[in-house]
Amino acid sequence: MDHMTESLSAEHYTATLIDHFEHPRNAGAMAGADAEAFVTNPVCGDSLRLFLRFDGERIAAASFLSSGCPAAIATSSVATELVLGRTADEAGALTRDDFAAAVGGLPKSKVHCSVLAAAAVRNAITAWRAQRGTSP
Ligand code: FES
Repeated sequence: MDHMTESLSAEHYTATLIDHFEHPRNAGAMAGADAEAFVTNPVCGDSLRLFLRFDGERIAAASFLSSGCPAAIATSSVATELVLGRTADEAGALTRDDFAAAVGGLPKSKVHCSVLAAAAVRNAITAWRAQRGTSP
């Protein structure tokens, strides 16, 4: 479906999700990011690029660029808020269910959309650890 013409109400999105879609938090590329990840959703081809900056062990900033549906954009937006202030371990333990819950839940047909945010967070943290030479 064309995301531009996708009906927000027809998908039964929550008000929180629509707010994050219409006003994405931390949208945009990040200069001087410590780690980033690019992931695509094999189900639909949508994509997400996530940027992280660390202060010691904790995530000090996060931002994203997405070519995705409203659910993907909203869960990416909320992910950049949820990872803030968390350690790599804490952020890496967040699941797609956590991101979906943070936007008030997803319609059944859109559950797969939260995979992007979860995979990007995990991959960016893996990349950060690899750069520091602390990968398991
Ligand atoms: Fe592709 Fe939602 S339809 S991530």
